[in-house]
Amino acid sequence: MLTVEEKNAQKKAAAKAALEYIEDGMVVGLGTGSTAAYFIEALANQVRDKGWQLTCVTTSIESEQLAATVGLKTVPIEQVEQIDVTVDGADEVDARLNGIKGGGAALLFEKIVAFKSKQNVWVIDGEKKSDNLGTKFKLPVEVIRFGAQLLIPAFTQMGLKPKFRKQENGELFLTDSLHYIIDLDISGIFDLKTLATQLKGITGVVEHGLFLSVCDVLIIGGKTVQTIKG
Ligand code: A5P
Repeated sequence: MLTVEEKNAQKKAAAKAALEYIEDGMVVGLGTGSTAAYFIEALANQVRDKGWQLTCVTTSIESEQLAATVGLKTVPIEQVEQIDVTVDGADEVDARLNGIKGGGAALLFEKIVAFKSKQNVWVIDGEKKSDNLGTKFKLPVEVIRFGAQLLIPAFTQMGLKPKFRKQENGELFLTDSLHYIIDLDISGIFDLKTLATQLKGITGVVEHGLFLSVCDVLIIGGKTVQTIKG
């Protein structure tokens, strides 16, 4: 198991390597989470050093605030025709570059931004690689607040051991869109495509954190940085 310092060093290395995919004049999607934050900081330095003009779109209030702090220009997603490259983190990724996202609760905006991106680059530390999605991380599902409790028996019946995500003070966690997150145990499920369809079909579910066939390039930090193309 990696120490926190080792993990952060790997995240930083992966984030730095992702700069290779960015060119002057691009529209860039900025992900959410600690690895994406390393990328945002590295990108801002690059933009400053090279005098680049970039337009950025963010995936959360958190990444919007960080972008503003480091001086990156952001616009609402509606103002761009397409995003050239989005660089984002992930919570668990398998060999086919399918992943679970939403550990930072930004899955809804992240998916909208990813679907509008020509290329999606994910940056992770080595511990997030997985043989079977769901064995290392719970699947976050964003749900509307109205009737949210009613989803618990439905998910339980599906064998998914649902748990509302809570804040430190015990109150239910709220996303940027003021929805709740329910974390599901999908470790026993192998047909993820069917699960994704089933989840989308449940009234009250806004989005789930299964990102299937979304990632084009996976960059894994380490002593030597590894890049896998989908
Ligand atoms: C945010 O909702 C997630 O999808 C993040 O991309 C994910 O949690 C990765 O976070 P870290 O880079 O902090 O591990």
